[in-house]
Amino acid sequence: MDTEIFLQVDNYISALLASEDVALTNTIKSLDEQGLPQHSVSANQGKFLQVMMIACNAKKVLELGTLGGYSTIWLARALPDNGKLITIEVDKHHGDVAHKNIDNAGLSHKVDLRVGKALDILPKIVEENEEPFDMIFIDADKPPYTEYFNYALQLSRPGTLIICDNVIREGKVLDENSTDEKVKGVQRLNKMLSENKKVTATILQMVGAKEYDGIAIAVVNRI
Ligand SMILES: C[S@@+](CC[C@H](N)C(=O)[O-])C[C@H]1O[C@@H](n2cnc3c(N)ncnc32)[C@H](O)[C@@H]1O
Repeated sequence: MDTEIFLQVDNYISALLASEDVALTNTIKSLDEQGLPQHSVSANQGKFLQVMMIACNAKKVLELGTLGGYSTIWLARALPDNGKLITIEVDKHHGDVAHKNIDNAGLSHKVDLRVGKALDILPKIVEENEEPFDMIFIDADKPPYTEYFNYALQLSRPGTLIICDNVIREGKVLDENSTDEKVKGVQRLNKMLSENKKVTATILQMVGAKEYDGIAIAVVNRI
């Protein structure tokens, strides 16, 4: 398949609707400069997250997997000035780079960056009796996606949007005999979504500047 067309159309869309300012382009540059992987969402995906936030009137957002803060910047920019975003990152170096990028974007007052394993930090957030989040973006390591989703449910209210990135993995999810722990992790999540009565969920395939993948979107049911 000629994937060049996907890249060209992605560039066309981002030029129209998701242009990056210097804070975002510098964040992408900082990944190479600081030895972090280029695993950020694309500009169009960042804009997609903003559209989702505005649609659900999000004032409080949780993110798992900060990397250099690229998606965090898109998310934090769609919050009102008194909005709050907690983002969790296991790697201290990634956290340091993200901290600087978020600061350079003028968003530190909205962002609470917590460094540690998501599975250690999430129970603490539950214990803190936080008000429920309006939107939760899961983009950390893939094997525990189902556990992350279950914590996300505990931190939600009816109407909360839960978005999970990279759940198609270039179509490898079709391989029932896959031994890839990332593939197995998202297969487990996708199956759980199909059975979970607490949410209404779908999965969108995604093509574009990044590898062929997909994003799961679930809204917590009102009953
Ligand atoms: C795909 S990247 C996140 C990209 C980021 N959301 C963006 O679009 O700019 C995944 C990040 O999750 C972090 N991560 C991996 N395992 C984690 C864990 N157990 N808890 C928290 N973060 C984790 C990685 O260090 C990495 O920085």
